[in-house]
Parts: sequence; structure tokens; C-alpha cells
Amino acid sequence: MIWTKSLETGVPKIDEQHKELFRQADILVDKSQQGKVNETLNFLKSYVAKHFSDEEILHRVSAYPKLDFHKKLHEDFSKYYRELYGQYQAAPNKQPVLMSINTAVVGWLREHIMKHDKEFAVYYLEKQKTGK
Ligand SMILES: [Fe+2]
Repeated sequence: MIWTKSLETGVPKIDEQHKELFRQADILVDKSQQGKVNETLNFLKSYVAKHFSDEEILHRVSAYPKLDFHKKLHEDFSKYYRELYGQYQAAPNKQPVLMSINTAVVGWLREHIMKHDKEFAVYYLEKQKTGK
């Protein structure tokens, strides 16, 4: 899935990390990069955790009212990713699981960004502007 400008939140750090997640998820379904799959799955696992934690820091420092709700969404996704990761390890035929992981990461991220990260970004950028 290609990154599009409509996915931008306007918070540079968040946008950079989102782009990287998309890029990594695409490696999983790129036939020419199959040698990198295990490495990429592990990278994604830790990068997702880092990304969520970085976002949650911004939530806290800006006293975001929906902080707990947003954190729960992150936790649910981390759990889902771990499940898929386990499925991949156990699967005799790995290809379909890789497709599912790609769809899960990209599909979840798209929805999450459009709805929840953008909502936070509006709040955060406004708060920075007004200095309150
Ligand atoms: Fe988020």
C-alpha cells in the first residue's frame, strides 16, 4: 500500500513513523524481499511498540482527554499483531499469513490514522499554537 498525503496528521514525528510502518509492511508481501521476512516481522513488532509509546508520550505531555481510550486501541492492536506473529511461526504455508499481516498492519493503520491519530493531531497542533 502506498503512502498518500491524505494520511498525514501534520505532526512530523508521527507521520515519519507511520510512513516507516507502511514501508516495512510492504516488504512482507514483496516477492523480491522474501529473505528479509523474519527480520521485518521482528522489526515491525518493536517499531510498532516504539511508535505507540512515542504517540502516548505526546498524549500525556499535552494532557489529551482521550489518552486512555487511544492507549487501549494501541494495546488491542499489539495483541492482534502478536497473534498473527504466532500464526506465522506455526503456519506450514507462510505466504497467506504474510498477506494477512500486511493487510492487518496497513488496514488497521489507515483506519486508526484517519480517525484517531488525526483527531489527536488537531488537538495537539491547536494546543501548541495557543500555548495552553
Ligand atoms: Fe495512535
